[in-house]
Amino acid sequence: MEIEILDAKNSKPIGKCTVQAQTSVRELKVSVHHLKKSLNPHRQSLRLESRGKTLKDTDTIESLSLRDGAKLYCKDLGPQISWKGVFLAEYAGPLFVYLLFYQRPSFIYGDIIRPVSLTANIAAACWSIHYAKRLLETLFVHRFSHATMPLRNLFKNCIYYWGFAAYVAYHVNHPLFTEPCRGCMLAAVTGFMISELGNFSIHVNLRNLRPAGSTVRKIPVPDSNPLTKLFNFVSCPNYTYEFTSWLFFSIATQCIPAYLFTAAGMYQMTVWAIGKHKNYKKEFKDYPKGRKAILPFII
Ligand SMILES: NC(=O)c1ccc[n+]([C@@H]2O[C@H](COP(=O)([O-])OP(=O)(O)OC[C@H]3O[C@@H](n4cnc5c(N)ncnc54)[C@H](OP(=O)(O)O)[C@@H]3O)[C@@H](O)[C@H]2O)c1
Repeated sequence: MEIEILDAKNSKPIGKCTVQAQTSVRELKVSVHHLKKSLNPHRQSLRLESRGKTLKDTDTIESLSLRDGAKLYCKDLGPQISWKGVFLAEYAGPLFVYLLFYQRPSFIYGDIIRPVSLTANIAAACWSIHYAKRLLETLFVHRFSHATMPLRNLFKNCIYYWGFAAYVAYHVNHPLFTEPCRGCMLAAVTGFMISELGNFSIHVNLRNLRPAGSTVRKIPVPDSNPLTKLFNFVSCPNYTYEFTSWLFFSIATQCIPAYLFTAAGMYQMTVWAIGKHKNYKKEFKDYPKGRKAILPFII
């Protein structure tokens, strides 16, 4: 049978594809690519309606109840870049930028000479541990369901991460930086390290939910690692730990730009966590009641 493909923007026909009942959306995208060379399968969003939901790659003509002559809309998502590429750029940048300021180059700070404080040394270690961990997780832990994302996100995300790295690093590494109380700083750094361990534990737990090479989604539950118990209270404990990491970093450095970075990250992650929490409840009828999105008992 034949399926007609229309442009989701203006409903103009792109062409017709011959399909079987078992043809998947992924295979259909390859046929659309043959009809229009600029529409690489990764930049297509196929929908039943022009402004409808994107169909899953695993959906089939049969599962969608499409008949001969049915119409599907194709939205061009624009140029794409691999998720791994985006994450590597996002995380390598802040590491490089922060360590540049840590070297206290005279073109940034002039000729003020003062020894680097213990807090600034420990803060540089914490920052490096966090971003080195994110780089390694991107390469060896995460199993992403989408291979690519729109190229414009790369610019947006890099401006956010690189910009905040420079803003925080400029202040913490400033020769006139005033150290907070040593006991508070060391207690906060301990909190930071536990949060980083928690964040890593959740990422490993999420990886183990998904068999290699698949896009399977399951209800996440705690495993034998006690830091994953947070799944009993929230849907996105990795975001909770990311928030507490930066909160402890801010307390350790008592630096206002670090608090602003924490607040901006928390705002973004709360928006995402609320969306993910809603999706879990919609997708899984037996989703545990009583879980919140990101902050236990609150949000
Ligand atoms: N500081 C900040 O502003 C900020 C903001 C956002 C994120 N982050 C950091 O970046 C980390 C990753 O962020 P993210 O938004 O990619 O986290 P995420 O959506 O929780 O995803 C992490 C990984 O787990 C997979 N996954 C999620 N839920 C799953 C499920 N139910 N079943 C199977 N696999 C599942 C995801 O695959 P999919 O490809 O299917 O999603 C992805 O590979 C965060 O934990 C945080 O540390 C920082």
